[in-house]
Amino acid sequence: MKKNSKNNELRGIYDNVMLPNYSPANFIPKEARGSRIWDQDDKEYIDFGGGIAVNSLGHSHPDLIKALSEQSKKFWHLSNYLSNEPAINLAKKLTDLTFAENVFLSNSGTEANEAAIKIARKFHSSKNNQRNEIVSFQNSFHGRSLLNISLGSSEMHRSGFEPLMPGIKHGEFNNVSNLGSLITKKTAAVIVEPVQGEAGVYTASKEFLKKLREECTKQGALLIIDEVQSGIGRMGSLYGYMQYDIKPDIVTSAKGLGGGIPIGATLTSKVIGECMQPGSHGSTFGGNPMSCAVANEVVSIVSEKDFLNDVLEKEQLFLDLLSEFKTKGIFSEVRSAGLWIGCDLIDKTANEVLDQAYDAGLIMVSAGSSCLRLAPALNITNEEIEQGINLLKEVLL
Ligand SMILES: Cc1ncc(COP(=O)(O)O)c(C=O)c1O
Repeated sequence: MKKNSKNNELRGIYDNVMLPNYSPANFIPKEARGSRIWDQDDKEYIDFGGGIAVNSLGHSHPDLIKALSEQSKKFWHLSNYLSNEPAINLAKKLTDLTFAENVFLSNSGTEANEAAIKIARKFHSSKNNQRNEIVSFQNSFHGRSLLNISLGSSEMHRSGFEPLMPGIKHGEFNNVSNLGSLITKKTAAVIVEPVQGEAGVYTASKEFLKKLREECTKQGALLIIDEVQSGIGRMGSLYGYMQYDIKPDIVTSAKGLGGGIPIGATLTSKVIGECMQPGSHGSTFGGNPMSCAVANEVVSIVSEKDFLNDVLEKEQLFLDLLSEFKTKGIFSEVRSAGLWIGCDLIDKTANEVLDQAYDAGLIMVSAGSSCLRLAPALNITNEEIEQGINLLKEVLL
């Protein structure tokens, strides 16, 4: 162990004072720019994790710093008794660019989903519809609140936290044959990810999402697309649903929307949104002007066609470079959806590889016990991609 290491000193304090619900890397970052991070002992890392699909424009992006510092000199917080220009501009931008006409702003993906389910139930109750069941899917992930672990299906996430939320059914992801029996006149809403990221980057088939839309429309249930991880350019389109030729009823967004600053958004139509009258839902920090000022910049940059095309080109570069790991018997499968890649390890655990990669100077994240997940900044350079893959070769080949 290195003597006089600031990493070790801080890590010692971490272990003492933090709730032990995470097991982070042993080093503590000190500074980061673009897709590079430096730790307290000045070691450099290439960042393929992107803060789990959050740092959409990398670290310390000059336009985001400018937006944040300009707003920080005006005001930081007002509460929802007063509105603010950055929040209004962000909502306008999101409605101009998507199917949506109404936006609810919050602070995280969990809250965006919570609002989505509440809106769906309120919509039906406001019409005196006797329906409140929610349909979700196996292997889905929607967040860590009691509602969201009930929507998800991970035993590890649920264990010890029961009782779960009642009224939630789970169908099989990508199975079109049983949607007819799953979605009924009792269903208030169906929630689905276009790509199951936490499960290991499994993409919904076009047939599945289209059939889901059809069944929801037929039964009068609302279709909620959870784009917390898939949205904001991750898949090479502003939102993933845009690749499916479907119109959702509600979309949830967070993670990459703030480029690293906490924000969540629930997008819907006016017809649905009007059920939410003053007092029906709220959030102290939702629509915070600092977060919204940054998110405005993120959305402006990421929604550019050329930017989105670059995401797809970089995906291809990753896939070309990763193919060697497959031919050499390291990965059994590589799945991707834009700059979002799942690599199934054949005979190593993901945690073991993450630790070895840290030593080599590469940061990745995992999905389950044997899948390496790459969700880098969408503006990662080709040079950074090549450098990171060379580090991965040092670890695995
Ligand atoms: C699809 C999806 N939904 C919801 C969430 C929860 O978001 P948050 O952690 O911001 O609450 C996540 C987080 O990973 C996610 O991937």
